[in-house]
Amino acid sequence: MDNPFRYGCVVSGDHFCERTKAERELRGFVKAGQNVFVQGERRMGKTSLVRKAVSGVRGERLVYVDLYCIGSQSDLCRRIAEGVGRANSSMPFLKRVMAFASRLRPSLSFDSIDGSPKITVDAFAAEEPASLGIVMSMLENVASDGKSCIVFDEFQDILRIKDSERVLAEMRGRIQFQEDVPYLFLGSVRHEMWRIFTDTKSPFYKSAAAYDVGEIDVDDFSGFIVSRFEKGRRRISRDMARLTIATASGVSGDVQELCAALWDVTESGHVVTEADIPSALEVVFMRERKGFEKAVSMLTSTQLRVLRGLAEQPKLRVFGSEFLKRVGMTNAGAVSKALKRLEAHDLVHETAGGYRFGDSFFRQWILKTAT
Ligand SMILES: Nc1ncnc2c1ncn2[C@@H]1O[C@H](COP(=O)(O)OP(=O)(O)O)[C@@H](O)[C@H]1O
Ligand SMILES: [Mg+2]
Repeated sequence: MDNPFRYGCVVSGDHFCERTKAERELRGFVKAGQNVFVQGERRMGKTSLVRKAVSGVRGERLVYVDLYCIGSQSDLCRRIAEGVGRANSSMPFLKRVMAFASRLRPSLSFDSIDGSPKITVDAFAAEEPASLGIVMSMLENVASDGKSCIVFDEFQDILRIKDSERVLAEMRGRIQFQEDVPYLFLGSVRHEMWRIFTDTKSPFYKSAAAYDVGEIDVDDFSGFIVSRFEKGRRRISRDMARLTIATASGVSGDVQELCAALWDVTESGHVVTEADIPSALEVVFMRERKGFEKAVSMLTSTQLRVLRGLAEQPKLRVFGSEFLKRVGMTNAGAVSKALKRLEAHDLVHETAGGYRFGDSFFRQWILKTAT
């Protein structure tokens, strides 16, 4: 039987552990036509949750636009046009929006596997400042029947556009007049999302309610894990499932990755015990090693020292004397500089309870390789 765990992709159906409360809350926003910015760490399950929660609300059509790694206005316009095309496959609609966007020289094709429509606009034409207004009108058009919900995923990546301020101002200008259309802005880099939505100087200041996607309820998630293992004729107790969740720091995608590895290191009929965790972690490390090594190779020896210090003692005050002693440094300013670089590399981020690794497996790997 195939491995019953999935990670690294959007999950749905029986790969999705119910998140009843969060789904209900997000639906409430959508029903009220309320704009929301949905924030949460990477792999916590934002995309999967929103896709599940939103589909089917008030006949809702999901217009999904992924801004992951966009670098220019042209990329942004192209992603929006694609999202519009995928959202409504009726031919009269597609023809109408294509005619409407003729300045962007759009072309229409159909996916060879699922037949879904794809609108492609010309990359050069999409770079012209006026093009953003045209694709925003395409969005308004698809939403004009009051049945659409518009999702921008990895919205913080808009900040990668050279003149992102102008782009944000124009988008905001258009969105604010669509009072009944719910816009959901998803993002995984907290400080950048906060900069967009809570900085008084940002065009999106106070334009959307904040919603946090945290860990899946541990009772629900452990129940889910138990039943997935059962399905594949292995057994795991509730407590062991809880331990697995904790070992992956409660990050949904990491929990599924660790479960998938536990699956791989065990045989049919096996009862999972604590002794299986180290070999499952080995499997994870083996899969992730290249990425981890690359991340480490970009660091200076000081940065690496601070990173190791954090891995060993995530709860120590990083500027306190105990931490300095532990990492063998005397200069708090140098620690602070190293931390900034580690944050810029997206390896750690500051939380209310101290610094946290973006990837808990990376932390465990650092600990393992430091000895
Ligand atoms: N509701 C869920 N139940 C079980 N696993 C989930 C759930 N949501 C997310 N995951 C796990 O997390 C991974 C990442 O999910 P995704 O929605 O892409 O997260 P994000 O958008 O926050 O990065 C999925 O591949 C899956 O392994
Ligand atoms: Mg996502």
